Amino acid sequence: MLNFVFQNPTKIIFGKGSINQIAGEITQEAKVLITYGGGSAKRNGVLAEVKTALNGYDITEFGGIEPNPEYEIIMKAVALAREKKINFLLAIGGGSVIDGTKFMAAAIPFKDDPALLLDNAGSAIRQASPIGVVVTLPASGSEMNNRAVITRKAFMLKRAIMNPFLFPRFAVLDPTSTYTLPVRQIGNGVVDTFAHVLEQYITYPVDGKIQDRFAEGLLLTLIEEGPKALIEPENYDVRANLMWCATLALNGLIGAGVPQDWAAHRVGYELTVLYGLDHAQTIAVLVPAIFKILESNKRQKLLQYAGRVWGINKGNEGARIDAAIDKTREFFESMQVKTRLCDYGITAETIPAVVEQLKAHGMVKLGEHQSVTPEVVQKILELCL
Ligand code: NZQ
Ligand code: ZN
Repeated sequence: MLNFVFQNPTKIIFGKGSINQIAGEITQEAKVLITYGGGSAKRNGVLAEVKTALNGYDITEFGGIEPNPEYEIIMKAVALAREKKINFLLAIGGGSVIDGTKFMAAAIPFKDDPALLLDNAGSAIRQASPIGVVVTLPASGSEMNNRAVITRKAFMLKRAIMNPFLFPRFAVLDPTSTYTLPVRQIGNGVVDTFAHVLEQYITYPVDGKIQDRFAEGLLLTLIEEGPKALIEPENYDVRANLMWCATLALNGLIGAGVPQDWAAHRVGYELTVLYGLDHAQTIAVLVPAIFKILESNKRQKLLQYAGRVWGINKGNEGARIDAAIDKTREFFESMQVKTRLCDYGITAETIPAVVEQLKAHGMVKLGEHQSVTPEVVQKILELCL
């Protein structure tokens, strides 16, 4: 096992009806900015539930944070927060609203140009406003981690920043808040969560037995429960298991002490910026191809994955790995997320643009061995067509 430091300060408040516990987490004197997305939180009543829980508080609202949160929009919220002297941020939504709110939290007290915070992957952050989260879409894991992924369309940039100040103080996970998710977002959430586990699991063995078995437990749960959410959207136990899976998949636990990959995520950001694919769609396309192209680097973990997660134990090594990759693709497709670039209207002519974007962003040595160079990305993308 590799050396590691693990600290996660986020308090989780889980379960049906738990939104009414928010008031206990925010001081009565706080000036609260509630942030949300394009309107789902209004339509499904979660925003109203939060406001009832915070009855008597000084509240300002900021809605309209879109998927792949845009810097320019977030900066409008920063201006509002500064003007209103906001000192607590409460995000209601999925990864986009949570990440946008995390960026606000860092930008509000930042004395210099907040655009600088996107440089150096967030290391310039020295303080942040306190954040609370009400999750309505289990996927990103952002509710219990120190990351935020922000887009600047004007610069064709989608970038992850990380800093310990970005951990939310608390996150409320009420599985009933996810009942209204459309099929597309149920699928996206399960695929993204699955990919978060794979990015920390399918690398090379370091005898991290606990991390491996936690990872396998999360994957098996997603395989078991994910498809059920599509046909029984109001099955509480299914939603509860998926919600807790998403949080545990990217809260630092399974990644502590083991190598991590993240090439699919990094290349995926460019596909989103260039062609507008949903984050999970990029992952569904890239993961099977990455496993195939990097089969020799990942051989031992792919064989372990084939056996322990998919029960594939017969045949030679290459055949077992191919079968596990096929199963992965079938699972993504069963969650209604397409796994080929052509499914999204992307053809071979577009590949050079993705590779150029990665080079422009200095992303030329990706993966757990830093072996995913632009040439390797080219091969991966060709296999994604
Ligand atoms: O905007 P509204 O109207 O709220 O609708 C949203 C949005 O259109 C809708 N939605 C959310 N909860 C709903 C709902 N619709 C009905 N009922 C509900 N209960 O879902 C749509 C997508 O929301 P979004 O927040 O964009 O989805 P997701 O949670 O998948 O987040 C994606 C973003 O997270 C980033 C991604 O890159 C992307 O920008 N990630 C963040 C990570 C992190 N911070 O650790 C890690 C991830 O790998 C990922 O990169
Ligand atoms: Zn992701």
